[in-house]
Amino acid sequence: MSIEIPVRTLNDGTTLPTVGFGTYPLTGRHGVEAIGNAIAAGYRLLDSAVNYENEGTLGEAVRACGVDRDQLRITSKLPGRHHDFDEAMLTVQESLYRAGLDYYDLYLIHWPLPKQGKYVAAWKALVAAQRDGLIRSIGVCNFLPEHLERIVDETGVTPSVNQIELHPYFPQAGQRAVDAGLGIVTESWSPLGRANALLSDPTIAALAREHGRTIAQVILRWHVQLGAVPLPKSSDPQRQRENLALFDFELTDEDMAAISALGRPDGRTTGQDPAVYEEF
Ligand code: A2P
Repeated sequence: MSIEIPVRTLNDGTTLPTVGFGTYPLTGRHGVEAIGNAIAAGYRLLDSAVNYENEGTLGEAVRACGVDRDQLRITSKLPGRHHDFDEAMLTVQESLYRAGLDYYDLYLIHWPLPKQGKYVAAWKALVAAQRDGLIRSIGVCNFLPEHLERIVDETGVTPSVNQIELHPYFPQAGQRAVDAGLGIVTESWSPLGRANALLSDPTIAALAREHGRTIAQVILRWHVQLGAVPLPKSSDPQRQRENLALFDFELTDEDMAAISALGRPDGRTTGQDPAVYEEF
């Protein structure tokens, strides 16, 4: 049986489920199967990217799943090598062809690459692709406050979403406050810290015992109560369902504070600081 997930309304009036499914690194036949299982479990927000090389996998799972297209929210992301306006426009079209879709629900700039200095051109392309009907909602990933300020200043268009690294070891209170102040929904990548030490953290383990939940569920519920949209990845059908069963328990304010207090300055999983990180 699939689980009903509450939705959030974005600043452009469209809706987004409060939990989505991360598809990295699911590819090929195995990926189609895993994404199909996720949709059957109840996931409706599906997160892919050009650089995950799995837009075709996602499109295949969507065609096979039997769920109406308008019930799904499908995301892809523009890579750093295509930030020039014309290339970005072509990349959106190629993303659609690869997935076999008429439109993406959400298309995001994957990284700002501030040293390249082209993210404003990339943003203008997403604005144009949205105007042309190729994308319903547009947003960014890994944008720091100064990057957000610049694209809003130069285009007058505020992103609907900023997808950032977010988990209890890297809770990003400042960035989340900036996003919220601009009416931007924060999505969390690596919401479970890529299954590192976080999944055996003693503080979270104690809370999980108290609530009769798994550690992963407590972490994901923390994201939801922060107002962030976590995108957990799992190729295991049972863990996929576990990661959606978040809406029949609640963390107290003290629980929330105890989890947020686990944050560390060096808490990133792989050291990808958007101020300097470059991925093409
Ligand atoms: P698997 O795909 O075998 O389930 P993140 O979403 O933070 O990137 O973390 C993904 C990692 O966490 C994957 O290795 C995934 O493994 C694992 N994972 C996902 N859900 C759970 C869960 N409920 N319990 C334990 N590990 C999980």
